[in-house]
Amino acid sequence: MSLESAWQKRITLGLAGNAQTYRVFHGAGDAEASGGAGLENVSIDRFGDHYWITAWAILSEHTRDKLKDFLIAKNARSAVILFRPRQGAAELPRVLFGDPPTDKFAVTENGMRFLIQLQDTRHPGLFLDHAPLRTWLKQHSHGLTVLNTFAYTGSLSVAAGMGAAAMVTTLDLSPHYIAWAKQNWLGNDLPAETADFISGDVFEWLPRFRKRGRTFDLIIVDPPSSSRGKHGHFSTRQNLVTLHDRVFPLLSPAGTLATSVNSAQISWAKFEANIMRAADNQRVRVKIIEKLALPESFPARTPDESYLKGFILKRI
Ligand SMILES: C[S@@+](CC[C@H](N)C(=O)[O-])C[C@H]1O[C@@H](n2cnc3c(N)ncnc32)[C@H](O)[C@@H]1O
Repeated sequence: MSLESAWQKRITLGLAGNAQTYRVFHGAGDAEASGGAGLENVSIDRFGDHYWITAWAILSEHTRDKLKDFLIAKNARSAVILFRPRQGAAELPRVLFGDPPTDKFAVTENGMRFLIQLQDTRHPGLFLDHAPLRTWLKQHSHGLTVLNTFAYTGSLSVAAGMGAAAMVTTLDLSPHYIAWAKQNWLGNDLPAETADFISGDVFEWLPRFRKRGRTFDLIIVDPPSSSRGKHGHFSTRQNLVTLHDRVFPLLSPAGTLATSVNSAQISWAKFEANIMRAADNQRVRVKIIEKLALPESFPARTPDESYLKGFILKRI
């Protein structure tokens, strides 16, 4: 049975049983590996005893029953399903079974606590595919000044903070997410005085930091595929160079940049070429020290399907 073999695979990855937060089932990658017809357009994320299912196609009653029976057999307390059509806006999640918490609740990942929301939201607040970057940041942020751009709920800021960063600046356009990021920071008993939270546009703040002569030892850049801020439209397909042109001048000597995109439409080669062009434009020499791809719990059938691509670069 396909769901069961995906579950067993997570056990061999050291996830199920030990971890509270991980991807239980990853669409076509898991469905193909285990003959799971009907589940190609489904992913299942685990947040403690509650589950978030994303469906990219309308699910039959049979498939919904199969998901429900499987999760109940794994002692799940509740599950919601979010329908996210390939074109157009996602709906709000609907309850599949149980009583999903109506308020935010905490889960842990690798010793860090994050607040999750399952109802009245189109995303639960934690990108599970970025767990490897969180682990890396926790290990490599000691004593550093950190700037986390496009920060969302600040999970990467928490990781840097838990790694004993000297100061973490968290920047996001949305006041709602900045408030959530503060809750996540304080929920890990991190000191308020080593954190700066800014609700603002990256394209306004990066030049402002430059004018003020601010630099950072570690800069995190994880933009959405497209966004509309005060400064017009941004897309990772077209504006990666412009964005990184504004980032590199803020990198302190020997500083580190962690940059990633979430798009199967951008190849590894194009992504690398864009970053290196911006570094050249700004006369900054860098070398790639790590490559970030999807974790094993997000099996992709082809390199293209591996939408997450990231580099950690060091200024030399
Ligand atoms: C893909 S999420 C980032 C996920 C985050 N890095 C993480 O791992 O949790 C994109 C975030 O960028 C923010 N955003 C979009 N456009 C922005 C802009 N021009 N300036 C600042 N933040 C922006 C959105 O509000 C959203 O929270």
